[in-house]
Amino acid sequence: MKETYGHIRTQSSAPLLPYADTTPPSTPFVTSFRSKGYPVPSRRKSAFVLCAFVSVISLGVLASFAIHSSRSFPVSPLSSSAQDVLDSPFNMPPPETHEDDVATLPDEYPPWVLGPPTQSFRDNLRNDTKYITSWLSAGWNNDVMTYMNLIYLGVVTDRVPIVAMFTPSHIGGDAPVITFGEVFDVPRFREESGVPLLEWLEVKDPESEEVDELGCWNIWEAVQYYEHFPRGSSIPDWLRLDISYTRAPDWVKQIPNYEHDKCSTFWSLARLAYPEDREKNLGNVLPSPHHGVSLDPDEHLLCYDYLYYACAAQMSEYDYSYAPQWKHVGQYMHWTKEIETIAGQYVNHVFGLPEDGPVPPYITIHVRHGDFKNWCWEAETIEDCFAPLPVIARRVREVQDEILERKGIYIPMTRVVMTSDETDEAWWDEVAALGWARMNHDEQHTEEQYGRWHPVILDAAIQSGGLGFVGTDRSTFSVLSRRRVLDWHDGAVRMVLWGRKGADDH
Ligand SMILES: *[C@@H]1O[C@H](CO)[C@@H](O)[C@H](O)[C@H]1NC(C)=O
Repeated sequence: MKETYGHIRTQSSAPLLPYADTTPPSTPFVTSFRSKGYPVPSRRKSAFVLCAFVSVISLGVLASFAIHSSRSFPVSPLSSSAQDVLDSPFNMPPPETHEDDVATLPDEYPPWVLGPPTQSFRDNLRNDTKYITSWLSAGWNNDVMTYMNLIYLGVVTDRVPIVAMFTPSHIGGDAPVITFGEVFDVPRFREESGVPLLEWLEVKDPESEEVDELGCWNIWEAVQYYEHFPRGSSIPDWLRLDISYTRAPDWVKQIPNYEHDKCSTFWSLARLAYPEDREKNLGNVLPSPHHGVSLDPDEHLLCYDYLYYACAAQMSEYDYSYAPQWKHVGQYMHWTKEIETIAGQYVNHVFGLPEDGPVPPYITIHVRHGDFKNWCWEAETIEDCFAPLPVIARRVREVQDEILERKGIYIPMTRVVMTSDETDEAWWDEVAALGWARMNHDEQHTEEQYGRWHPVILDAAIQSGGLGFVGTDRSTFSVLSRRRVLDWHDGAVRMVLWGRKGADDH
């Protein structure tokens, strides 16, 4: 299977080429809207259909709904120090129930919207609540990190984040989009994190033909020097938004004039979310592509073009235990029940176990080759660049030993799954000789059965379900799996170093 999602992260010490961060050069923002609507999972549609039915339900029943709904959105379970930072969104009062609300189903409409999705997003925003949104522009895994950053910036700025769908830029642009809630368990996120979260499809009707104008901040032009336009994304187009961008001031870039780091800190971005610095930086406006309107950044729905590079203190932050966007947001983004179930079935399948039986403790390896060969300038040959299988096997043994020592569980080599984009069958024969199972989506017809998104999503879910994980250093895909295994299972993790001969010797 071709692995084209996620990307390599460069280290600041490495020699860098322009664009060496491998994020594909972005295209100027899209100027024509796609044909109407995007697929929405049917479970949501059916919920909306219930409205008519609910409108005849008595107020007594409604009251019990209201109780139910407030139970779904509890106050933050976070520690009091976190609570200081995460102030108002957590303490938002449950919505009051009025007679007018009879037409809504409180359990299905989160408290941060007025009701079912509307033709214009503005008609569904509460006047006592502020919101924040942003777009995607990379492979899926990095887009997941971008949404984590967006949601955390919502925490920092006391705003309700609104996430859109995932776009198929790296799995073939003609694949359909997949909604956030088809991948991540949104109700569970809200309940366990205490952080408010909306999906765009809960705010604006995906079928709406109405084009909404919106003013946003363009931070892309302030943090890099090659593209003289806001970061390109197909998301505004999917959402039928006509964006007018205001160029952010140069001070949002953390390291002035340094081209190899595009970080803006959450707190420098937050300065633009509040009146004092916002007002000082208005005026540098690019008219919107469709209606040609010039708008200041919206105060009700705050918006930034691209937040992949947002950080708390430094780049590549997901490697670090302190990373607040992981601690307060990312770790609560669990897979949907459906994804978890399929991932478990796949693991059992490759081990030759009954698919619907219990999943035994296992270890996953993620070996990223493919495009990583472009980062082999320190190696004489490609063979020298990537860690050979015996070197990876040493890491697997370290993980086995640690799990045995800390948990008293022995995981044999036959309960190890390899996930990799390597296409050389001789290499896979060596993998099999080590006793490891192969996650092979071609053989399992994953795309045919579940769609184009599932190979990549299932690999991530499978990696995150193991008690041990051996990843590829500097792969952002491995970085998130490493954190999930650590924080979800108290598991054992190692990253295999590469890039020159003997890189992982230790
Ligand atoms: C806010 O919205 C409510 C209804 O949702 C309305 O009754 C109230 O007048 C509005 N307040 C303002 C200041 O517009």
